[in-house]
Amino acid sequence: MIDAGEVRKQFPALHEEYNGRQAVFFDNPGGTQVHESVVAAMVDYMTRRNSNTHGLFETSVRTDAVIEGAHGAVADLLGCDADEVVFGNNMTSLTFHVSRSLARELGPGDEVLVTRLDHDANVMPWVMAAEERGAGVRWADVDVESGTLDMEDVRRQIGPRTKIVAVGYASNATGTINDVGTIIGWAGEVGALTFVDAVQYAPHGLIDVRELGCDFLACSSYKFFGPHSGQIYGRREHLERLEAYRVRPAGDRPPGKWETGTQNHEGMAGVTAAISYLAGLGVKYGGAEASDSRRRKLAAAWAVVGAYERMLTERLISGLLSVPGIRIFGLTERGDWDRRVATVSLRKRGSTPEQLALALAEENIFAWNGTFYAQAVSERMGVEESGGWLRLGLVHYNTLEEIERCLRVLDGV
Ligand SMILES: Cc1ncc(COP(=O)(O)O)c(C=O)c1O
Repeated sequence: MIDAGEVRKQFPALHEEYNGRQAVFFDNPGGTQVHESVVAAMVDYMTRRNSNTHGLFETSVRTDAVIEGAHGAVADLLGCDADEVVFGNNMTSLTFHVSRSLARELGPGDEVLVTRLDHDANVMPWVMAAEERGAGVRWADVDVESGTLDMEDVRRQIGPRTKIVAVGYASNATGTINDVGTIIGWAGEVGALTFVDAVQYAPHGLIDVRELGCDFLACSSYKFFGPHSGQIYGRREHLERLEAYRVRPAGDRPPGKWETGTQNHEGMAGVTAAISYLAGLGVKYGGAEASDSRRRKLAAAWAVVGAYERMLTERLISGLLSVPGIRIFGLTERGDWDRRVATVSLRKRGSTPEQLALALAEENIFAWNGTFYAQAVSERMGVEESGGWLRLGLVHYNTLEEIERCLRVLDGV
């Protein structure tokens, strides 16, 4: 099991004082805190490597090494090759970029499939692409009671006209982990391409794009203990074949052809550090050997992170359900912990989500209220107009004590 006390020592933000005392970070789905090695790597980049790329002088040579290293690190995180990893500002802008290029292959009679459980960043790029090309849009529904995708509906909506299926790995609202493997299989049967939004899954579990068989998969390092930056895996044949929106000197080889302008090099240094930190958890707690590959260490790390987070989820959900008036929008049964991440959205009778978030903020417990860009599901669940939810999102540096502190406040509101 992970030793959260040890882990917490390595996250500087967890020891800072905010309004005179330490805080509880339950705002993680909006962005996690960074490991000390991430801060150090970014300072190191800015101090000793800061330059633009492809020069013949030392800082530029070092910068090229940082860029190469970051692609390799994300490749290990996702289970692909380094040249199948594209960096960008964030998931949203990368998704728009890829959707622009894929739109060129759409036409009247074609369809894209999006889901009502997805963050809008995995909805509007595809809706707009379809609209521009005269293609149709299909929406897969959610089961409102359980906060899960309606898989029968997904199955029904995929047909011979489907060209792109965009689906989230884990919901940033309900915390549901979707059965993306099955959906990718269905898409494959009709020759549709798949785009997986793994932003909310990446901080919680091992991703294996080869095993999934997806065509694209996106994540954002600021959700997995690194700096603000986004990454996309694209299957090599697509990254080579598709037309990228680029300037001519960028060349026509991936990943460079997809990486517009000068990248966030210090961010890349930080991403590599974040992934190395995670791999280190695999050695420290997961039984991996120091000599194992980084990918293997990561697999071991996610196994222990998952076990620890399931323990937190269990306590959080059982505690919340014992507070009178609280309703959780998502899976709540004991047997469900493998089907959800530790992101829990709720409302409490007689209070708005804003009031709940404010009460927590007064006790230095940081949590989001609102609908978190998960617009379709908040509309579908009827909370869009009434302030959405309070969202408690936990990661492996959170503790049972923090949960108890939070429960006490919510009980008292
Ligand atoms: C599930 C999901 N997808 C996409 C995004 C957008 O990510 P980014 O901020 O990197 O564009 C978010 C951000 O919260 C998210 O939670």
